This record gives sequence, structure tokens and C-alpha cells, in this order.
Amino acid sequence: MKVNGRHYRTIWYDDAAAVVEIIDQTELPHALVIRALRSVDDAAEAIRVMRVRGAPLIGATAAWGLALAMRRGAQDDDLDRAVDVLAATRPTAINLQWALRTVADRLRPLAVDDRAPEAARLAAALCDEDVAINAAIGAHGSELIERLWRAKSAAQEPLHVLTHCNAGWLATVDWGTALAPIYRAHDAGIPLHVWVDETRPRNQGAALTAWELAAHGVPHDVIVDNAGGHLMQHGRVDLVITGTDRTAANGDVCNKIGTYLKALAAHDTGVPFYVALPGPTIDWSIDDGLRDIPIEERDAAEVTHVSGMLADGEVADVRVTPAGVTARNFAFDVTPARLVSGLITERGVCAASREGLLALYPERRGVS
Ligand code: MRU
Repeated sequence: MKVNGRHYRTIWYDDAAAVVEIIDQTELPHALVIRALRSVDDAAEAIRVMRVRGAPLIGATAAWGLALAMRRGAQDDDLDRAVDVLAATRPTAINLQWALRTVADRLRPLAVDDRAPEAARLAAALCDEDVAINAAIGAHGSELIERLWRAKSAAQEPLHVLTHCNAGWLATVDWGTALAPIYRAHDAGIPLHVWVDETRPRNQGAALTAWELAAHGVPHDVIVDNAGGHLMQHGRVDLVITGTDRTAANGDVCNKIGTYLKALAAHDTGVPFYVALPGPTIDWSIDDGLRDIPIEERDAAEVTHVSGMLADGEVADVRVTPAGVTARNFAFDVTPARLVSGLITERGVCAASREGLLALYPERRGVS
């Protein structure tokens, strides 16, 4: 997507410097900082501290992490260590394990000398595939948006879409998942307005989604996380679209903490609640998301402190709780499939159910 007229992806290989480069999302929205990754440990650190985040981008960074590791040593032990280091960074987004498995399985049968160039080729291909997948999600989702907008009003009123966390281009290699349909529909001239949940504690909505939407010129307002239910009760939300970090084979959706409460409010008020996801986010081995998806618990300091820009332009962390308070920081929750109106994938829109997913991914029938 474009920032100040220049096209960016969130991750790319810089041939001249022979490094992988990322947009450092811990610096946004205050500064656009590009950071170089030179080793597998750099890639793991970037995922762990959330310089890169969002399920698809975590997967893409892990693939590049393996490629960086293979440059320094490509014996079986080197590959195993790199997989272990990257796999240990964040537990919930399934795209991490998927990317590691996809790349490592292709490297293992190769001669040691062939592994480094092939790993780089695979990482680049995985990134290109992510972009194509998200563009297709955008096309399918924008048809849904257009249908809802036409049904809503002949008076050219904007369609009000609520989203949670950041599932935009910053969460992927490009385009985004939940925001791809919004960008497509906006570019096609459908009047849209986005309610952006701030998404405590890391504020991915307030910091990242708002920054992206502003850069693309999509009208939006940031709201506190608890405002969505009120807006839905008053008919001010026409559609909810979120992303997901892992979707179970039965259609249960794991996403940023607070997504479940939005789904409950949407269900109670009759607002359609859709989830946008690429195929690699489906965990076909799990049939009960609530029971089987591991939920990351992060540092309590993310709850007790917030980061922001002071009046003098300095970016600082400030404490919002009494000193010494204890806090818990659950990063994700699971929305049961029964609360999800549909899943928007690169292959089309389906019911949030095993049968719905299998109709789009028939090759998974009988495979776990
Ligand atoms: O903790 P984060 O910022 O990595 O969480 C990201 C989300 O929850 C996104 O909504 C999800 O990864 C879907 S991104 C396309």
C-alpha cells in the first residue's frame, strides 16, 4: 500500500544491502522506521517484541528468518535450531508454524549447499502468495460490502464498518485481511466509514489501523474498545469485519482479545459479523477452538503502562495503574462459530463451519 505516494510492503529483501527489511511497527504511528534483519535472532526478536505482528506477517517474517539462518549455516542442526528459535516467539498465530513447516519441509531433502538460495526463494514466494491471497480476499469482501451498502440505502449514505485490532496491510505483507475489502470498496467508490476499536493494551487499532486508513484516505473514527456495543444498539454499525490469528476447522475464530465481546454484541443486535482470513490461518487439526487454541499471555506491563507522544514530541511510556498493582494480559480470545455470519477467504465467502470451509478447500477432506 502507499504511504505519502510511495508503495511499501511490510517486509522485503534488499538486494544491495543483502538484508531483510521491515517496517518497525513499534515506532508507528509516530515515525515510519525501516529496520534491517540480518540473522534468525533478529527475525525472532522482531516477532517477539512485535516490530512485526499480525498472523500473516509473522509467518512471512519466520520464512525470511529461516532464509537468514541458512546463509550462516545450513546443516540439519542449523535448520532445526532456527525452526525452534522462531517457533518459540509467539504461540497463537498458526501462520508461524505453517510457514516454518512449509519452508523447512522443502529444505530438508536438499543438499546443504542448495538450502540457502532455495530458502530465500521460498520466503519471497510465500510473501508474493500472501499478497495475492489478500487481494482475492479484498475482491470477495468488497462484493459483500457493496451488497450491504446497496441494501442499506438508496441515499448514498456511507456503510459503517467496525473493526478490531489491526488486520490491515501492516498485519500482512500487503493489502491486509479485514481491511482489504474496505480498501477495495473504497477505491471502487462505495462510501464507507470505519469505526476503529483502539484495541488495548497494545492499541493496534488506534496506532496502526487509524494510521493506515488515514494514509489511504478512508474516513474513520477511533473509538474506545467498549463503545462498539452502544453503537450497534443505536443502528450505527452496519457490518463488523475482523481478522483472525487461527481459525479452527469447525469455524471457531481466535483473534485479538475483545473480539468475542464484539461478536456477542453483533449477534444481539443483528449486525453481520464477518471474519477475513487467508487459507494458511486455518488450523485443520483443531475442531474446538475454545478448547485447543493456545492463548498467548503477554507482559503485564502492557496493561499497567501505555505508550504515547508527549506534548514536546517525545514518545514515552506512562503508568496508568497504581504502582505495584498486579495485572494479567491475555492477548487473544475465541469467538465460537455460531456467532460468525461468514468467513471471507481468498476462495470466496463461506459459512463458519467445517462443511463451509471444506466446500472451499475440498482438498482438505479426510486430511487432518
Ligand atoms: O497481537 P497481534 O497484533 O499480532 O494480533 C493481530 C491480530 O489479532 C489480527 O487481527 C490478526 O492477526 C489478523 S491479521 C491479518
